[in-house]
Order: sequence, then structure tokens, then C-alpha cells
Amino acid sequence: MPSPADFNASASSAPVSAARAPVRVIAVASGKGGVGKTSVSVNLAMSLVHAGQRTLLLDTDLGLANVDVMLGLSPQFTLADVFAGRCELQDTLLEGPRGLWVVPAASGKRHMTELLPQQHIGLVNAFCQLDLPLDAMVVDNAAGISDSVLTFCQAAQDVIVVVCDEPASVTDAYALIKVLSRERGVTRVQVLANQVNNTIEGKQLFEKLERVSARFLDVTLHYLGAIPRDEWLRRAIQRQEAVVEAFPGCPSALAFRDIARRANSWQSPAGPRGGVEFFMERLVAHSAGGGAASTNDPLRSAVA
Ligand SMILES: Nc1ncnc2c1ncn2[C@@H]1O[C@H](COP(=O)(O)OP(=O)(O)O)[C@@H](O)[C@H]1O
Ligand SMILES: [Mg+2]
Repeated sequence: MPSPADFNASASSAPVSAARAPVRVIAVASGKGGVGKTSVSVNLAMSLVHAGQRTLLLDTDLGLANVDVMLGLSPQFTLADVFAGRCELQDTLLEGPRGLWVVPAASGKRHMTELLPQQHIGLVNAFCQLDLPLDAMVVDNAAGISDSVLTFCQAAQDVIVVVCDEPASVTDAYALIKVLSRERGVTRVQVLANQVNNTIEGKQLFEKLERVSARFLDVTLHYLGAIPRDEWLRRAIQRQEAVVEAFPGCPSALAFRDIARRANSWQSPAGPRGGVEFFMERLVAHSAGGGAASTNDPLRSAVA
């Protein structure tokens, strides 16, 4: 197991382990807060488990972590403890419903909202040494377009950008996609409309984003679908359960199941190296790069 000191390791010390089936890593981000990233992450991860995928849900929101709260889990240790040297990554692992693995972050650590490049590298080493058999990993990101968010999105095979029908959500989603495309070389993004009142609204949201992206960016947007605004989802949050577990027949649960099915059909990473290394190596490769997007972008007005 990695020791806390490993979290200041250099890139060259990343271990090489035996080949294994590739892990599908999906990053969930949105730019704006409160649009439904954590709800999507929790329910997508749980739906993947329902579909027989061995799945790990990684909470990287060190400022306002709440994956564990949404699932009614009580972490003894979190990622913040790992970075502070109080425990090892394995100590943070929680087993959620039906064997879903969860790595919680820590809430209210204002000074820890941004991971340092060497901490990304330390995370790489620690995950490689965890040696957990996994098929999928869902990464719940913080709001905003911090270097940390960009790095996790860039390193994943697929990025889901969650958007809802509010001008700020659309402009912030566009800002995120723009930086991922221009500064991080991301060429495809999955767009998920959340809290929609009907299917047309979801498609229109996507088309709004796609129009501007097609004009100004070199990135392909795919429409992943829409999650309806659903009172059952709120009730599930109150019960600290995933809605796909608590109310599997409700509209949002059915939509999540559909989205997990589509995510399962995405192409897996190619290459001889397996495990979570595809993701982790890309984290290492890019952990020192990138920068924040300009928020006074003239294109912002085009999507609003
Ligand atoms: N599809 C939905 N239907 C109804 N309410 C939703 C839906 N998605 C999110 N919410 C509400 O929005 C709140 C914020 O969602 P959350 O997933 O925590 O957003 P984020 O992680 O982006 O900050 C939730 O507590 C819930 O009340
Ligand atoms: Mg969240």
C-alpha cells in the first residue's frame, strides 16, 4: 500500500502492474454548481452496478463533497485525510449498496479544493497499488473549471457535461467544454440535460450548446439524453439513497438506467495496459498543464 509520502512522488515512480481489462472511466462535470453532477454520478454508478459492472465512485470535490451523504455512508477517512498523511487510500474505501465502491472526499476543506500536480501523481500511485478489480469508475467533480476539474476530465475516457435549463448553466457548460477542447485536447463530450420538464427541452438545450460549439470549437458533442425533473429523486436524496435503488420504477430512475446502458456501449480504452492505469497515466501526463478559462468571453453571450 502507498504511504502518505507517496503522495509527493514524482511521475517516474508510477508503478507498472500486470495487464487487466481496461476500466471505463467517466468524469461528470458541469461548470456551474447545483445542476445535478453528484445526483448523476451516484445514480450512473449505481446503474452500472445494476448492469453487472464492478464500479468505483470517486468523489473529487474536496470543497463540497457529498457523494457519501447522498448514499448514507459514514466515512471514517476521506481523500483529504490521505493527502494530509493521516491514512492510506485503502482506508477511505467504503462499500456502498450492492458492492459499489466509494472513495469519499471531504466537505468544507476550503484550502483543499484544488489538488496540486504532485497530489494527482500520488493518487495515481495509490490507485495503481490498490489493485481493485474494476470495470468502471465514475468521477464526481467539483463545480467550476479549476485545474483539478480539467485534469480529471481530460484523463477520463469520457466526460459527461451536465446542463440544465438556466442561462448560467449553459454558459458555464460552454466555458468548460471550451477549455477542455482548446487547452486539454478533449475531442468528444457527452451532454446530459438534467431537471428537464420534457424531452423536447432536453434536446433544445443540447442543440443550443452544439450550435455554438460547432461554430467555435473543434469538439464533437454527443447528446446522451435527459433526466426529468423528478420529485422521486428529491425523496431519494432525503432518504440518502440512489433513486435507482429507492424508486427503480420512477421517471428519473428509468432515464438513468437508459444512460448507463448507453455508457456501457461506449468504446473502451485500447492498449495493452489495463486496470485504472489508462486514466491514471493520463492524470500524470497532464497534471501539470492547463489553465483557467476566461469568463469574459464574447462567445458567452452567443449561448445565453
Ligand atoms: N433530476 C432532478 N430532479 C429533481 N431534482 C433534482 C434533479 N437533479 C438534481 N436535483 C436537485 O438539485 C440538487 C443539487 O443536485 P446535486 O446533484 O447535488 O448538484 P451538483 O453536484 O451539481 O452541485 C439536489 O439536491 C436535488 O434537490
Ligand atoms: Mg456535487
